[in-house]
Amino acid sequence: MMAQVKQGKTRPLKTGQLMKGLVKPNCTQLKKGLDAGPDSDKAWAELAMNAALINEISYTLMADGRCPDGTWAKANDTLRECSSAILKAVNSKNVEEAKKAFSAMVKACSTCHDAHKKKK
Ligand code: HEC
Repeated sequence: MMAQVKQGKTRPLKTGQLMKGLVKPNCTQLKKGLDAGPDSDKAWAELAMNAALINEISYTLMADGRCPDGTWAKANDTLRECSSAILKAVNSKNVEEAKKAFSAMVKACSTCHDAHKKKK
């Protein structure tokens, strides 16, 4: 199967759009929220949403012939597992655990980018 990287085979969404429109904003909100320390059920619910959306993105990144190789797949596994760990920590209102999982998660960003995001 030919890997697409920049866009899936049959669906219109570009990888850059997914990153800019979904991955980055949810990642930024997670960091902000965890650093500030959630102080209400609403704030926790926002963090749960951010983590769940990033988790969902890990399925899109593997779909539609997008995945080119094992580096991509492995970075994506990290994204999926760590976002799931963040969600679990958030659901038990454990900021420290969530922060730890967040730090581990963002390693996946650079691993995949180093291999597959063209330098400008
Ligand atoms: C499995 C691979 C992979 C993972 C994991 C990944 N990215 Fe990306 N990202 C890409 C690729 C490929 C591009 C380049 C897309 C292009 O230029 O066509 C990109 C581009 C981007 C861009 C630039 C988008 C634009 O066009 O303006 C941002 C921002 C970004 N990623 C954020 C993130 C963050 C934050 C994470 C971690 C939470 C992350 N990415 C994880 C593959 C990945």
